[in-house]
Amino acid sequence: MSIALVILAAGKGTRMNSDLPKVLHPIGQAPMLAHAMQAGAVLEPDRTIVVAGHGAEAVTRAVAEIDETAQVVLQTEQLGTAHAVDQARDALAGFEGDVVVLYGDTPFLQPQTLERMIDARQKAALVILGFEAADPARYGRLVMDGDRLERIVEFKDASEEELKISFCNSGLMACDAETLFDLIAKVGNDNASEEYYLTDVVELARNSGLAVTAVACDEAETLGINSRVDLARADVVFQDRARAELLELGVTLMAPETVYLSLDTIIGRDTVIEPNVVFGPGVTVESGANIRAFSHLEGCHVSRGAVVGPYARLRPGTELAENTRIGNFVEIKNAEIAEGAKVNHLSYVGDASVGTETNIGAGTITCNYDGVMKHRTEIGARAFIGSNTCLVAPVKVGNEAMTATGTVVTKDVEDGALAVARARQDNKQGYARKLFSILRAKKQKQNRG
Ligand code: UD1
Ligand code: CA
Repeated sequence: MSIALVILAAGKGTRMNSDLPKVLHPIGQAPMLAHAMQAGAVLEPDRTIVVAGHGAEAVTRAVAEIDETAQVVLQTEQLGTAHAVDQARDALAGFEGDVVVLYGDTPFLQPQTLERMIDARQKAALVILGFEAADPARYGRLVMDGDRLERIVEFKDASEEELKISFCNSGLMACDAETLFDLIAKVGNDNASEEYYLTDVVELARNSGLAVTAVACDEAETLGINSRVDLARADVVFQDRARAELLELGVTLMAPETVYLSLDTIIGRDTVIEPNVVFGPGVTVESGANIRAFSHLEGCHVSRGAVVGPYARLRPGTELAENTRIGNFVEIKNAEIAEGAKVNHLSYVGDASVGTETNIGAGTITCNYDGVMKHRTEIGARAFIGSNTCLVAPVKVGNEAMTATGTVVTKDVEDGALAVARARQDNKQGYARKLFSILRAKKQKQNRG
């Protein structure tokens, strides 16, 4: 069966008190919308439609980054959830299959839950996702008759009796596309909020003799984000889950609660992560690597057997080959470090390539920026870059070449050559003693005067 996801993301999110549209606030360094889209991806949807309204331009840009095949439709006025889904009608004209409605601000939905909804579709035309609410508060209530769902009543429209129901509406549903849009066409706004309620399709379906049922999930899955407090809590929940998944996959986290992960962090089996490591977006670490304490990684790839840190910073475009060593207070940006190469102490390597088995001495800097443009540094294999070398890019250092300590490299260095670019040392015999006595005499004079 074909699936189309319709993700509602037009709401303002007033309580976030933000210029950023609510669905773009990040959890695990990815917009919460990306979490919803990732959960939906388990259904291998043929179509993904995001309904945007507030901050639509920013939402459209973000959607393109998350999934370039997803389509954004506009809901210029937020007239209710049924009206929101209705905005996907034209985009889905002629689509044969099921529509699954998700909310962009509900990031914790589990893939298995969506699968259960689709399974339940075999027995019912319309499937709603519900949950037992610890505090039903303002949620819509699911009025059940056995395992059949009679209708959903919104909090504002509920009677005393109905308010006692604790089985609540998550807002998610699955229904054949044609049926759903036919039902939505009949939804009115004669209710307490004067909104077009998506929930009204339940009663409308029943009235047309269609079977409607509800599938239950854990309340934690339907947790919506409405405020910064919710957002902060959601990040904690996300981190806990992401860490647990890594542990399950065979990654060692020495102090799990201190490791910060992103939605797209990938770490291989038997890799050891020491305390206080931050994984920004776009990091993949292969098996058997060691990321040592207090390191910060983003947009990089770390291969098998590499050791990073403690206190290392890997910035976007860093590509570490197998068995590389990146030590303390080293920053790498947009650079490929080939197999077995070492950059162990206090260095900046940016816009560069470093060949196999090459050793970069302490304090080496690639001077990649001239104040206007960036330039590349290419260092060959088995080279030795002496401590405190400045490589003024663009520049190349050949295979098996060396640079003397403190050298400022401004010209290419040929294979096997030694570059020395510093003043020659001159020892002046007896001068130190002479200088000391002059200086001491001066100080004595000052003290007396
Ligand atoms: C909705 C449900 C309620 C359910 C609750 C779960 C309806 C009528 N009510 O209520 O039964 O218990 O969710 O959280 O469906 N949105 C749009 N355009 C609109 C209106 C909403 O895109 O015109 C989006 C919002 O951005 C949000 C989602 O739809 O992501 C839900 O809207 P919201 O206003 O929060 O619905 P509730 O009143 O909470
Ligand atoms: Ca809500």
